[in-house]
Amino acid sequence: MSKTKNNTKFSTKTIHVGNKIDETGAAVTPLHLTSTFRQPTFSSSEKFVYSRTGGPTIDALEENFAMLEDAKYSFAFASGMAAMSAIFLMFKPGDHVLISKNVYGGVFRLVTKVLNNNGVDFDFIDTTDLNVIKKTIRESTKLIHLETPSNPLLEITDILAVSKICKSNKILLSVDNTFMSPYGQKPLNLGADIVMHSTTKYIGGHSDVLSGALMVNDKKSAEKITLIQNTSGALPSPFDAWLLLRSIKTLSLRVEKHFSNTMKIAIWLKKQKKVTRVIYPGLKEHPQHSIAKKQQKNPNGNTVFGGIISFELEKSININKFAKKLNFITLAESLGGVKTLISCPYSMTHASVPKKEKETLGITKNLLRLSVGIENVDDLISELDLAINH
Ligand SMILES: Cc1ncc(COP(=O)(O)O)c(C=O)c1O
Repeated sequence: MSKTKNNTKFSTKTIHVGNKIDETGAAVTPLHLTSTFRQPTFSSSEKFVYSRTGGPTIDALEENFAMLEDAKYSFAFASGMAAMSAIFLMFKPGDHVLISKNVYGGVFRLVTKVLNNNGVDFDFIDTTDLNVIKKTIRESTKLIHLETPSNPLLEITDILAVSKICKSNKILLSVDNTFMSPYGQKPLNLGADIVMHSTTKYIGGHSDVLSGALMVNDKKSAEKITLIQNTSGALPSPFDAWLLLRSIKTLSLRVEKHFSNTMKIAIWLKKQKKVTRVIYPGLKEHPQHSIAKKQQKNPNGNTVFGGIISFELEKSININKFAKKLNFITLAESLGGVKTLISCPYSMTHASVPKKEKETLGITKNLLRLSVGIENVDDLISELDLAINH
């Protein structure tokens, strides 16, 4: 790695941290495609032994990942869900876990269809309400898991306030920081113990790699996660790790553009008669706008509001006909890539959430989630105009 100083800026570090130049002098960190490593003797314990445990490309990525969240330790995973599973595997039967109620649908499915049978108790609660958190905590509560902003309703939980409750009750706090990316929010610096990312999203940024990450400062948690990551075979491939190292070099540029495009589209959507609801934390009427302003900061200390908007079309609009008129905006799951994607949480990401639950949450059939890309924003707006108004 090139040496960084205490005052080296975030965008410089994204390019240099972990990106070692080896003895060949190659300017880009080499990709080591190998499943095993030669050992000097039968009894030696070298740094790299077998690729399920680690290797030079993963090592470079994990060094970079830790820097992204100002963490001491970081762990690469084959997907965001593998990272999420590793968090839950840290707990044992009898332990109790609290989770944000409108968490990503895949987490809901993992908990209700798989982990519920393993003896850990889970409760889904409104983590934006601190009183609800305080009331639901039990003696056996060991973890609170937040998603902020949440998916797809973009509810914001006050990370610092929840971390204070956690500390006074000796509970770990984990935060899914996928939606803001490390460019827009730093949960560890707000008192969280574990940060989780689906790096499939902004960190990968090009919709071409599936991966996840955990970042922590505490040695005991790091040891537990190391064991889980290795024994469960959850590492990404070296090739995916190399792609991520490449992508992270442009994280600051990309995310800044995602966020500025999104603000412009949110303001435009608000003026459309056929749009009945616009949910974006950057709008003053968003219920947690002031919390977003406080905790969502870019590396320059400026407030940022994210790259996702959810909006509802009036009932008379058939959303499939609407989608057929789109060109650059692609109907697909996922988010955080350079290309703008649109999805319908009701039938896609949240398909496994019971209908009644979706109704209570406000996830209606005509609610669409837009992951704004880095195309020219005028092209995106004229396309939305055509699909909504013509
Ligand atoms: C907020 C959030 N967390 C976790 C995940 C799961 O990540 P992955 O698809 O990489 O397993 C997703 C996926 O969409 C997500 O949006």
